[in-house]
Amino acid sequence: MVPELETARLKLLPLTLEDAPVLQKLFPRWEIVRHLSSEVPWPYPPDGALTFVRDVALPGMERGSMWFWSIRLKGGPSHLIGVINLSVGPRENRGFWLGLEWLGRRLMAEACEAVMEFWFNGLGQERLRVSKAVSNLASRRISEREGAKLIAVEERSYVSGRAPAEIWELTREDWNARSRPN
Ligand SMILES: CC(C)(COP(=O)(O)OP(=O)(O)OC[C@H]1O[C@@H](n2cnc3c(N)ncnc32)[C@H](O)[C@@H]1OP(=O)(O)O)[C@@H](O)C(=O)NCCC(=O)NCCS
Repeated sequence: MVPELETARLKLLPLTLEDAPVLQKLFPRWEIVRHLSSEVPWPYPPDGALTFVRDVALPGMERGSMWFWSIRLKGGPSHLIGVINLSVGPRENRGFWLGLEWLGRRLMAEACEAVMEFWFNGLGQERLRVSKAVSNLASRRISEREGAKLIAVEERSYVSGRAPAEIWELTREDWNARSRPN
């Protein structure tokens, strides 16, 4: 139900329990979690990744309402370098994070390209809504470059506390009409 996806530099594979140890190593960094929802436990418990994959990601994928991919760089390392996910629902349809070592190379924009294509033209979804802390400029930039529109600003709870969040929306029509990024 979660297809393997490929881009020029990346392979996206369905997340599995075997990914939990690397996820546990790369994910719990303040620079990564501070802009994430306060549902992320912080300080991150020693079994945080295992619990998350086993109790949230895998059941969601089995229900057919969530799609989680490990992001892997072609040519190594052999383990994941980040995670991207989609979920159905009115509020929050996509999430992502990248290990600190791999930031700043537009890798997430590339992963998003494949995942968005799946969301709109594989699953046939009409719109994608995402929220991001106003101060999360890198995440905002990804939505801007995708052609998403800012539709609302509201307060949300983040690991770093209550903060204003921007709600961005991208429609299938706009996705398919946009010129591809260079
Ligand atoms: C958001 C995230 C996935 C971006 O991944 P990335 O592959 O490193 O993205 P890039 O470094 O290519 O940056 C994307 C854009 O933001 C810009 N950017 C990056 N850091 C920035 C900063 N601190 N201030 C302003 N712009 C910034 C980049 O220049 C780039 O813009 P461009 O494509 O016009 O050049 C990564 O920062 C991350 O994992 N953050 C922590 C988790 C998180 O916030 N997830 C999203 C929650 S909504």
